[in-house]
Amino acid sequence: FVRRPLLAGNWKMNGLRAALTEVQRVAAGFAGAPRSRIDLLLCPPATLLAAASAIAAPAGVFLGGQDCHSEPSGAHTGDISAAMLADAGANFVIIGHSERRADHGESDALVRAKALAALAAGLTPIVCVGETRQEREAGRAEDVVGSQIAGSVPPGFAPNRIVLAYEPVWAIGTGLTPTPQDVARMHGFARERLEAALGAGQGPGVRILYGGSVKPSNARELMSVDDVDGALVGGASLRADDFLAIAAAW
Ligand code: G3H
Repeated sequence: FVRRPLLAGNWKMNGLRAALTEVQRVAAGFAGAPRSRIDLLLCPPATLLAAASAIAAPAGVFLGGQDCHSEPSGAHTGDISAAMLADAGANFVIIGHSERRADHGESDALVRAKALAALAAGLTPIVCVGETRQEREAGRAEDVVGSQIAGSVPPGFAPNRIVLAYEPVWAIGTGLTPTPQDVARMHGFARERLEAALGAGQGPGVRILYGGSVKPSNARELMSVDDVDGALVGGASLRADDFLAIAAAW
């Protein structure tokens, strides 16, 4: 089954207007070789989305938000709807990142509602799951990821409308990564659970990204693992040179 790799950069709460020069560099670099082999996606802060889109979209680089509200509009001060992200040029939106789950108490049910809102606005949700260090040490990693998938992934959608990101919380921003064997095992498990969530025969069509301390020096090894269809990159997506070096892993 051919799944087109997706390399996504999540800038998190980083980036003032000066950082648009990095978007320019990514766009210029992507005009080269990797373009035909992978989808490239940048998720800057929402304040930069429209300006980043004007720079990156003509080069074929996708743009995404980092979160959206579960409702289409209304009295939700400070929140951003999926339609607003789409209007600003987004094609994707990260949903249920572990930092949202931890900092804002987002439950699986809320993550699913947000994913549904994204789909309704024509965006592709990147639904994030992953276990904490304590959960892994207690031997509960698969239980946790399985129940997050069951609770967070909206059922009944075509597999190409949803992306899953497996991000072990203990690997995010720490420089630690699971072994390729552990990644392969978890991605295979996640694909089985996606099949259960989306329906028979649908599992093979979903792109499953790995996230957590991906950098140029480990990208090739991690991206060659079975069932890994791309990466969700935090820190190493902030500099165009690093991000493009990761893109060269394919
Ligand atoms: O969304 C990205 C992930 O949280 C990974 O972050 O690459 O800085 O470890 P990181």
